Amino acid sequence: MAEREIHDHWSREAKRKGYRSRAAFKLMQIDDRRGILKKGDQVLDLGCAPGSWLQVVSQRVGASGRGWGIDLKVVASGLPDNVIAMEGNAEDPEGAGVPASMLFDVVLSDMMPSTTGSRDTDHFRSISVCELAMDICPRWLRPGGTLVMKVLEGAAMQQLLADARKQFEKVKPFKPDASRKESTEIFVIAHGYRGPPVDTPPAGPPTAGGPPPVPEGW
Ligand SMILES: C[S@@+](CC[C@H](N)C(=O)[O-])C[C@H]1O[C@@H](n2cnc3c(N)ncnc32)[C@H](O)[C@@H]1O
Repeated sequence: MAEREIHDHWSREAKRKGYRSRAAFKLMQIDDRRGILKKGDQVLDLGCAPGSWLQVVSQRVGASGRGWGIDLKVVASGLPDNVIAMEGNAEDPEGAGVPASMLFDVVLSDMMPSTTGSRDTDHFRSISVCELAMDICPRWLRPGGTLVMKVLEGAAMQQLLADARKQFEKVKPFKPDASRKESTEIFVIAHGYRGPPVDTPPAGPPTAGGPPPVPEGW
């Protein structure tokens, strides 16, 4: 199939199956190949608009799990009950409405700053949002947890992988079929978070076994 037809194929499939965008298939393919989402997981989805990854998270974590999305943009209502989208900057999950007591099993980042068309500039911008995603892990990702982040390949890719390997036991890039072949987009899958460095300020009070507090408007 030609590149355009492949793109149209995933867009048609998304429409047919009720997903908000074709990006849903990227997360499904990542999860099918790399097993990142489990029933009962608490998942933080950075850059969640329009919400198709949250739709997939909802199905895969089931009723006992939850997805918490953050985006600079407002996400339209109508998402399933076990996921929520909050408006805010991924730099500050608490400011966006994530309870201070949360510790996530999985952090996802499909974040992409606005692109310029310059391959180098767009690459370095994508690296900066990956650094943002890694920076919030000490505070929000549980030891042993998983981080998935999108990056546009380029000169700083190897350094990003090396940085991720310091923090995670297993780090591998993966390109789902639903990503355009011509695009430099690739996903870094990092399993087995080693935990925060010793100088990280302590997280809020741990949730004592039960479900985390539910924000208003859930
Ligand atoms: C490719 S879209 C995400 C698609 C989403 N995964 C889905 O399946 O519907 C990238 C998103 O990243 C968001 N974004 C970029 N930088 C961000 C930041 N610092 N904080 C929150 N969201 C950000 C953009 O607003 C945009 O909506």
